[in-house]
Amino acid sequence: MSRRPVFAANWKMSLRRGAADAYAGRLREAVHELPAADVVLFPPFPLIPVVAELLAGSPVAWGGQDLHPEEAGAHTGDVSALHLLDWDSTWVLCGHSERRAEHGETDELVAAKVARAQRSGLRPLLCVGETEEARRAGRTEEVLARQLSAAAPAGDGEWALAYEPVWAIGTGRTATPEIAQEAHAFLRSVAAGRLGEALAARLRILYGGSVKPDNAAALVSQPDIDGFLIGGASLDPDSFLDIIRRCASVRPRG
Ligand code: PGA
Repeated sequence: MSRRPVFAANWKMSLRRGAADAYAGRLREAVHELPAADVVLFPPFPLIPVVAELLAGSPVAWGGQDLHPEEAGAHTGDVSALHLLDWDSTWVLCGHSERRAEHGETDELVAAKVARAQRSGLRPLLCVGETEEARRAGRTEEVLARQLSAAAPAGDGEWALAYEPVWAIGTGRTATPEIAQEAHAFLRSVAAGRLGEALAARLRILYGGSVKPDNAAALVSQPDIDGFLIGGASLDPDSFLDIIRRCASVRPRG
């Protein structure tokens, strides 16, 4: 089964307008070097127009780090799928662990966001992952199965999954390729139970958590790891491009 890899940069609350401008310009210069892969930027909301203007017509895509489950209404501080679409976004993150932890996002809310994204024509990138405490207690599979089962879209629409163990995010403690592969294979088996073998075999499952140029190739050579959601190491466009390049030479897919 050939799955086109995804390399996604999660800028979180980093980079400002000038840096976003320079970043998008650097990627635009490098588009001819990009392998057959989905390359996606998730800037803070106010920087989406900067990216959209500079990368329009290029193979690089972008999207929001979050969205509200409603399309409009009295929701101060929130952003709708329609706002993301106004700037030609194609993807949106749903259920990142920082939103679950800092904004109390429940599985039900994440499921509503995933459903809204799909109905509005955005591709959700659903994030799941266990805390260190859950892993130590032997509850990793229980947490992953619950988070995925609660929010996996039912139909055939395009979406992707990111496995991001909370203990590996921003800590420099990347999961080993074996630990990550085990979790990815488990998630694919849960997806198969819900969606059927054929859809699960096509589902792209990204790894996230302290991915860097020097650990990316070993991770992506695992059979169920289909790319990355990258925070810290994606903030410098050359480091992001380095990760993409090193993976392309390990496992050309797509
Ligand atoms: P990190 O973040 O690469 O800085 O660990 C990943 C993420 O939170 O998506």
